[in-house]
Amino acid sequence: MNEKTREFIDGVLTKYCCDKKEIINIIQEVQNEYNYLPEDVLVYIAKNLDVSQSKVYGVATFYENFSLDAKGKNIIKICDGTACHVRKSVPILNAVNKELGLSEKKKTTDDMMFTVETVSCLGACGLAPVMTVNGNVHPKMTPESAVELIRNIRKGSL
Ligand code: FES
Repeated sequence: MNEKTREFIDGVLTKYCCDKKEIINIIQEVQNEYNYLPEDVLVYIAKNLDVSQSKVYGVATFYENFSLDAKGKNIIKICDGTACHVRKSVPILNAVNKELGLSEKKKTTDDMMFTVETVSCLGACGLAPVMTVNGNVHPKMTPESAVELIRNIRKGSL
């Protein structure tokens, strides 16, 4: 773990007074910061909360919101709930995966710039088909507009 990460985790632990009852909130803050839960960070948290590593891993794997896999800087969620599916969300997913060289099995680009996930409803069915990038909603998407959006993100990050 690098110094910057350690400082961040120490700050979170201090905020919650190293209280083991706050373990979910502590892990949530780590997830929010890194988009996933690095293994060495979980070990460090366990040590500082004086709980077993299996307890920390138990929490980290119980909640769907937490991920042990590293994710890209930009998290793209493509809705495939009923409203979006009937308005052709699958071609959007296929176009995005093709643009990024991803697939159902490979969800994160090698440069760690993008992770693509599907979700069952983003709560914006009236705007279907919907995708989000880092939580920002993009309504009424098409395969073309989705690819254009990704290219613009790429350009902006250069
Ligand atoms: S089904 Fe896609 S937003 Fe609800």
